[in-house]
Amino acid sequence: MRNPLADRVVDIPFSGIRKFFDIVSEMPDAISLGVGEPDFDTPWHVRDEGIYSLEKGRTFYTSNSGLKELRQEITNYLKRRQNLEYDAMKEVLITVGGSEAIDIGMRGMLNPGEEVLIPQPSYVSYEPCVLLAGGVPVIIDLKEENEFRLTAQELLDAITEKTKILVLPFPNNPTGAILEEKDLQEIAKICIEKDIFVMSDEIYSELTYKEKHISIAQMPGMQERTILINGFSKAYAMTGWRLGYACGPADIIEQMLKVHQYAIMCAPTTSQYAATEMCRRCVRRTISAAAIWYMPFGRWGWHVLNPSVRSTYSLPFRNLA
Ligand SMILES: Cc1ncc(COP(=O)(O)O)c(C=O)c1O
Repeated sequence: MRNPLADRVVDIPFSGIRKFFDIVSEMPDAISLGVGEPDFDTPWHVRDEGIYSLEKGRTFYTSNSGLKELRQEITNYLKRRQNLEYDAMKEVLITVGGSEAIDIGMRGMLNPGEEVLIPQPSYVSYEPCVLLAGGVPVIIDLKEENEFRLTAQELLDAITEKTKILVLPFPNNPTGAILEEKDLQEIAKICIEKDIFVMSDEIYSELTYKEKHISIAQMPGMQERTILINGFSKAYAMTGWRLGYACGPADIIEQMLKVHQYAIMCAPTTSQYAATEMCRRCVRRTISAAAIWYMPFGRWGWHVLNPSVRSTYSLPFRNLA
């Protein structure tokens, strides 16, 4: 029998953190700090809205782009929180989690051999998604002495003629690093000069505690070259509802929609109704319910990055050498 498998998929390893999560979930006494899962449930009235939509028989496909009222609520939210304006009809796409938005963003934008800069440590799926889209991941190793922020020099050093996209994973999983306005201004200047697009994964934007989250799309000249990715999983404890979104220039969103249309059709309808209720009624209240784990890592001889708890992750680590 000939080999039934695609080499480019076989060559990509399974995610280590997911394997670890599966092991830990079988251990009754273990506290898992591994997977980004809020420790409160989706607020009741949001769950209730999902149930109500089922009772009303809203069990059909939605528009491929997502429910119009949800897209509108998302644009209202982005205007309110970040002073960003998007056209709900052409510049917003509802996806199956931020995960799908990352995947179809890469597939909608990359031609074979084009390079994507990925600062690491960061979320596990960027690199495989680039590979599956035929692109070339280029890793930028973030440094502890810079608090794992991306510096202008690190960015400049990684850019080549083939660089097309910079992934900007801040607030960061797992380091908790955030970028401040000054960092974003420097990065934006380089992206404009070098004609690079940004995929800005802002899934932890609402879990920024000391200062207000700023998006790179807010920097002058950047909205037209940024795909902003966000979702409901983390800030609103809706991981299992599988709902996210991408906002960006209409021509990019249109191609992402094509991939989404053929692969997915539309995000889950029940989740879209529940998320619309979430956007309308409880944005702040839910976020303030987010609990933070304080563990005495310092006492155990571990060094803790981000001890000031500016974002949802802290990175405890120990030099075992
Ligand atoms: C940085 C980051 N981006 C995106 C995701 C995907 O989240 P979801 O697909 O649940 O929206 C995660 C999940 O852990 C994440 O940590």
